Amino acid sequence: MKNYAGVEEGKSMGHEFDGIEELNNPLPGWWTKMFWLTAVWAVYYLLAYPGLGNYQGFLGWKSSNQGITSLEESRAAVEQAKAEGYRVQYDQEMVKAQETFGPIFEKYASQDIHALVKDEEALEIGKRLYLQNCSQCHASDARGGVGFPNLTDNDWLYGGSPEKIKETILHGRKAAMPGWIDSLGEDGIKQVTAYVISLSGREVDAGLAKAGEAKFGVCAACHGADGKGSVAHNLPFGAPNLTDDIWLYGGSERAITETLTHGRAGVMPAWKDILGEDKVHLISAYVYSLSN
Ligand code: HEC
Ligand code: HEC
Repeated sequence: MKNYAGVEEGKSMGHEFDGIEELNNPLPGWWTKMFWLTAVWAVYYLLAYPGLGNYQGFLGWKSSNQGITSLEESRAAVEQAKAEGYRVQYDQEMVKAQETFGPIFEKYASQDIHALVKDEEALEIGKRLYLQNCSQCHASDARGGVGFPNLTDNDWLYGGSPEKIKETILHGRKAAMPGWIDSLGEDGIKQVTAYVISLSGREVDAGLAKAGEAKFGVCAACHGADGKGSVAHNLPFGAPNLTDDIWLYGGSERAITETLTHGRAGVMPAWKDILGEDKVHLISAYVYSLSN
C-alpha cells in the first residue's frame, strides 16, 4: 500500500541524515484507531461538560465550586442546582461527606480538648486532617521551617493553650513586624541586631549591643521591654520571644539584620469557613498534643 507521498510500505521516503534513512513504516492500525478515538472523545467531552466559555454542556453538570469555600455555600449550590435542573458534582460530594462523617466530628466537637488528647482515635483523625491541610506549610512532622512556626516545641507566638491554638486555627493570624531601616538607619540596625543577638546569650561587641539596647524602646511595645515576646506579656501581636534561641526567620546576624531592615509579615490562614469548627476542634487537639 502506498502512503500519501506515493511510497510503498517499507521503502525509503527519500531522506537520509548521518547514514540514517527514513522508511515508510505506517503506524499500527490499532494505534491509529485509538488516535482518532481520542480526538472524537475530546470533541464529545467539550460538548458534554462545562468548559467552553459560559456553555454548561449537554449533560447538565456545572462547575459551581469555583470560589466556594464553605460547606454552607456547597449546600446552597446543590439546592440551587436542583431547582434549576443541573448537577454540581464537587458540592454534592462535599455535602454527602458531611452527612456521612459530620456526626463523627460532632461527637468529638462536644468534648473538651484536654479529654481529646487522651483519645487515640481522635488524635489519629486530627493528625490526618493536619496532614491534609497544614503540612504544606508547617511540615508533616509539624516542625515548621523558615517563616512557618514549629508546632511541637512549647514556644508560641500567640499562645499554646487549647483555646489560643483553636483561636489561631479558626480565625488565622497576621503578623506585622515593621521594617526599621527608615527610622534607625543602617548603623542603628547594626546596633539593635547586636543587642538582639546578646539577648539569647551569645557573645557580641559590647559597645554595639549597649547602643542597641538604648534603641530597643521602640521594640518593647510588641516584644516586651525584656524581649520575651507577646505571649509572656499577654499581648496579642504574635511577636516572638527574642531571648530563647528559637528563631522563626533565622538567628544568624544576617537573618536578624534582614528581619529588622525590611520587617516580616507572616500570615496564618483562617480555617473556620474551609473546614468548619468541628474539624478545627480535632486539629487543635492534635496540635496541642504535640507539645504536651
Ligand atoms: C499557607 C501556609 C500555612 C498553612 C496552610 C497553615 N499555616 Fe499555620 N501558620 C502559618 C504561618 C506563616 C504562621 C505564623 C504566623 C506569624 O508569622 O505570625 C502560622 C501559625 C500557626 C500557629 C501559631 C503558632 C504559634 O506559635 O502561636 C498555629 C497553631 C498554626 N499555624 C496551626 C496551623 C494548622 C493546624 C494548620 C492547618 C489547619 C495550619 N496552621 C495551616 C502558615 C500556615
Ligand atoms: C508592632 C509590633 C512590633 C514591633 C514594634 C517590633 N516587632 Fe519584631 N516582630 C513582631 C512580630 C509580630 C514578629 C513576627 C513576624 C512574623 O511572624 O512574621 C516579629 C519578629 C521579630 C524578629 C524575628 C524573630 C525570629 O524568631 O525570627 C526579630 C529579630 C524582631 N522582631 C526584632 C524586633 C526589634 C529589634 C524591634 C525594634 C527595633 C522590633 N522587633 C519591633 C512585632 C513587632
